[in-house]
Amino acid sequence: MRGYFGVGVEGITKEQNLGNLVRSAHAFGASFFFVIRPEIDVHAVRVSDTSGAFDHMPFYVWESVDDMVLPKGCQLVGVEFMEDSVELPSFRHPTRAAYILGPEMGDLSPEIMEKVDHIIKIPMKFCINVGVAGALTMYDRVISMGRFPDRPVRPGGPELEPMTDVMPERHHRRRSRSAEKRKANKALQEGT
Ligand SMILES: C[S@@+](CC[C@H](N)C(=O)[O-])C[C@H]1O[C@@H](n2cnc3c(N)ncnc32)[C@H](O)[C@@H]1O
Repeated sequence: MRGYFGVGVEGITKEQNLGNLVRSAHAFGASFFFVIRPEIDVHAVRVSDTSGAFDHMPFYVWESVDDMVLPKGCQLVGVEFMEDSVELPSFRHPTRAAYILGPEMGDLSPEIMEKVDHIIKIPMKFCINVGVAGALTMYDRVISMGRFPDRPVRPGGPELEPMTDVMPERHHRRRSRSAEKRKANKALQEGT
């Protein structure tokens, strides 16, 4: 995938939410993670993390918005459930981006709002858990910027050509299983 992204959270108050968000960021391939004005013991979360996220991603702790230093050319994207935020499915993710999420009991601060290049929201009825909002944002980035085959018109996955140069055995196993499934479904539809 082109570019890179980082994820951050402002004023986080629950260790479990931080652990959850860092773990998702690591799993989705974030290049760095940051916290601004944390209200928890970040070190304790770090010590109890079993996914290794803290060991494999640069992790920054900033005590104020003014302390925040992002790489040159990196656009700051505020993730906040506001009326005039851009809806995530219509948002073009910047190639180089840092996503910042807000605290459990509040919103992103006016200071960070002054620094953001974009503000996005996940279209839904009301606010959800900060860790889940972060994961959905990263998932949207990955599916809109990753190189995945197009979805087919009919239900099911795309017809894939065998990729003999990349993990050939695993790929062939997958392909033959889906071929078997299609055959079984067809038989079911035809009542045979
Ligand atoms: C639980 S929400 C904060 C509580 C919320 N301000 C309220 O109404 O009480 C925590 C953070 O999750 C993120 N968030 C949750 N739902 C969201 C959504 N639908 N769109 C964008 N961000 C969301 C935002 O970063 C938000 O600051």
